[in-house]
Amino acid sequence: MKLNEIVNKKELAPSVKLFDIYAPNIAKKCLPGNFIILMVSEYGERIPLTINDCDRAKGTIRIIVQEIGRTTQELGKMKVGEIIPNLMGPLGHASHIEKFGKVVCIGGGVGTAVMYPIAKALKEKGNEVITIIGAKTKELVILEEEMKKISSSVHITTDDGSYGKKGFVTDALNEILSAQKIDRVFAIGPLIMMKIISEITKQYSIPTIVSLNPIMIDGTGMCGGCRVSVGNETKFACVDGPEFDAHKVNFDELLHRNNRFAEEEQHSCKLQEK
Ligand SMILES: Cc1cc2nc3c(=O)[nH]c(=O)nc-3n(C[C@H](O)[C@H](O)[C@H](O)COP(=O)(O)OP(=O)(O)OC[C@H]3O[C@@H](n4cnc5c(N)ncnc54)[C@H](O)[C@@H]3O)c2cc1C
Ligand code: FES
Repeated sequence: MKLNEIVNKKELAPSVKLFDIYAPNIAKKCLPGNFIILMVSEYGERIPLTINDCDRAKGTIRIIVQEIGRTTQELGKMKVGEIIPNLMGPLGHASHIEKFGKVVCIGGGVGTAVMYPIAKALKEKGNEVITIIGAKTKELVILEEEMKKISSSVHITTDDGSYGKKGFVTDALNEILSAQKIDRVFAIGPLIMMKIISEITKQYSIPTIVSLNPIMIDGTGMCGGCRVSVGNETKFACVDGPEFDAHKVNFDELLHRNNRFAEEEQHSCKLQEK
């Protein structure tokens, strides 16, 4: 096997692909919550992706990617046997895992892939894990079986009601919080989802952790691209995070910053289609 070679590829849902990549040095060191930054071509952009799992004996890491723009679509086209030209990691702080008691882990869309290693580590530490998975529609629900193995219950919501309960993860969360005492909430998904979850758990005074997804470039704290305001302080998500206390995050500022290059991103996608 060659360094950074794709050794396994699977389609989990339309536009959601799993890759196992031979990267023994990263596999040796990575912990739940870490991510990598890769480039799919020598002149491409650098994009961050969470390490979903690893096999230290085989020297492989697993990533799960949703194709939403040019680079993720280019990655989605890569085949088993191909080499990822540039891949670095593990990056970011590992998740803070301890025995909290009863925890709710919420994954929205591909956020479920980011949540899985954290939920697994929480379970291994002796927590009771209640999972909520949210997706737009049935075929986009991912990792349901994996989450069932580590959770006391799994609640699924779809926006169109094609699977689980019709509605949003926040509906399921409200139901759980009104019925039982929860010690901590972890939420990973679209920014707007994490913002609303944060507002709900604040009312119950439940400590809540979110994994933020600002635009990252170098991943080493030097470019400033991933800066976020947390508790009125400027933090760099790549080196200070990506996990933060949800109740201190300025979500509105981050929502604004993440849309900053929307026009350029659409233009880049169109160039690729030509
Ligand atoms: C720490 C972290 C972990 C992540 N883990 C995963 C994961 O496991 N699976 C997954 O599918 N996605 C993950 N993402 C999101 C992923 O990085 C973006 O979807 C990807 O960069 C989009 O690139 P694109 O060229 O395909 O899309 P574009 O069309 O260029 O962008 C679409 C949107 O993706 C985001 N984005 C674009 N470029 C970057 C960048 N360099 N850094 C961060 N966000 C960007 C922006 O919000 C943008 O509006 C993670 C992001 C972060 C910050
Ligand atoms: S990505 Fe450059 S400072 Fe974080």
